[in-house]
Amino acid sequence: MSESKKSSKASLSVDGKTIELEVLESTMGERALNLSRVKAETGCFAFDPAMVNTAVCRSAITYVDGDKGILLHRGYPIEELAEHCTFIEVAYLLIHGELPTADQRQRFSRLLNIHSMLHEDMRSFFGNYPEGAHPMAVLSAMVVSLSSFYPELRLDSDKEEIDTTVTRLLSKLRTIAAFSYKKSIGEPFVYPSHKYSYCENFLNMMFRSPVSLYEADPYDVAVMNKLLILHADHEQNASTTAVRMVGSTGANLYACVSAGICALWGPLHGGANQAVVEMLEKIQKEGLTLDQVVAKAKDKNDPFRLMGFGHRIYKSYDPRAKIAKKLCMAVLNKKRLSDPMVEIAMALEERALKDDYFRERNLYPNVDFYTGLIYRALGFPKEMFTVLFALGRLPGWIAHWQEMRQDPEQKIMRPRQIYMGPAKTDYVHIEARG
Ligand code: SDX
Repeated sequence: MSESKKSSKASLSVDGKTIELEVLESTMGERALNLSRVKAETGCFAFDPAMVNTAVCRSAITYVDGDKGILLHRGYPIEELAEHCTFIEVAYLLIHGELPTADQRQRFSRLLNIHSMLHEDMRSFFGNYPEGAHPMAVLSAMVVSLSSFYPELRLDSDKEEIDTTVTRLLSKLRTIAAFSYKKSIGEPFVYPSHKYSYCENFLNMMFRSPVSLYEADPYDVAVMNKLLILHADHEQNASTTAVRMVGSTGANLYACVSAGICALWGPLHGGANQAVVEMLEKIQKEGLTLDQVVAKAKDKNDPFRLMGFGHRIYKSYDPRAKIAKKLCMAVLNKKRLSDPMVEIAMALEERALKDDYFRERNLYPNVDFYTGLIYRALGFPKEMFTVLFALGRLPGWIAHWQEMRQDPEQKIMRPRQIYMGPAKTDYVHIEARG
């Protein structure tokens, strides 16, 4: 990765002592003050709760411009990737840094098929989960269990080993996701087949059964590819940071991805796609008016938030939400479906975007606002929505894990704190305690 060009300087004065700070340039977007010596030179930590203003690394994978609503993966706009690529091509792009040639794509697909089966001993794990176990719990546990069956990558692993491990994980996560769904509905597992493409295989494992001659509709396969592409990566979001954090200790890739899945599960992050549909169902069930919903969202005493709205970086319409909204309409039209949830969602978006509270805070629909409604139209239950987010995000996690391991500036992450606890206190024996 290219070194950031050093350019203008900044200065910082603490207790009358002034130090110079490098201003690090990026190839696109914001610059950064290099604070890596601020403790040594001033005796003070930098304080930035939740790292809202902190760049923890240099990265060449994804660029997001939150003001302009721009999202690039290795320089390619998300709109073009969603329009022209399959998910596997975007996965290859994120992990290897370039779009695959026809031969590279064929080899990658072949590896994905070779590694699509789960070790038969892992099948029995599914049987030990109670009915109604959330598929994200199963997904995270099964992924970390892969480390008991398959070798982990080493720092000096060669490209062949990396490709094998990466395609093994990409392929097996898809199988685990489908098996967790089948387990949740009490149906027998459907095995992957070499004759299908990545998304076709997944839909087949999800919806085929011994009594249904299900064949994945090519239209649904194309929609599935677009949905997974929309989730493929998003620079240093919470779950990617979890993967990088766990990876910085030297833990294996399976353990890192399992941590990423757990971070993604939260309703403020990837879990929002399920929370959006639950919010829309609640609005319909309780007969809430749009004004009542918006008032609840604005009420600081009410924990209710407009799920699928707002974003830490996008202060404009999330470009992925734009694509998802159009795709949602196209899918409903193509399938001649009408879904009252979609009507509520679109009316709610229109009402919120007229409201000063949302406009002043630049709160727009994010990637989660419409994607759950598309999954619904494809036949997925809402408990599977965040699993589908994880399936899409996996290549991004892998790419960041690899970049972090190869980055000479990276070492074990260990932030500091401002201590606010008691001063040194002498021990008091239990008899002498009040
Ligand atoms: C994802 O980081 C990524 O890149 C994530 C992601 C990815 O691809 O990895 O894009 C995927 O996680 C998308 C976000 C999904 N989450 C949701 O849709 C949950 C609802 N959204 C909010 O919880 C919130 O918008 C967050 C968590 C997404 C962002 O929160 P921030 O950046 O911490 O913003 P904030 O909480 O400081 O909010 C600023 C103001 C506050 O009001 P004031 O204190 O200024 O009066 O905006 C308000 C908030 O109360 N606000 C909302 C709101 N989101 C923010 N008010 C009502 N409803 C909302 N949804």
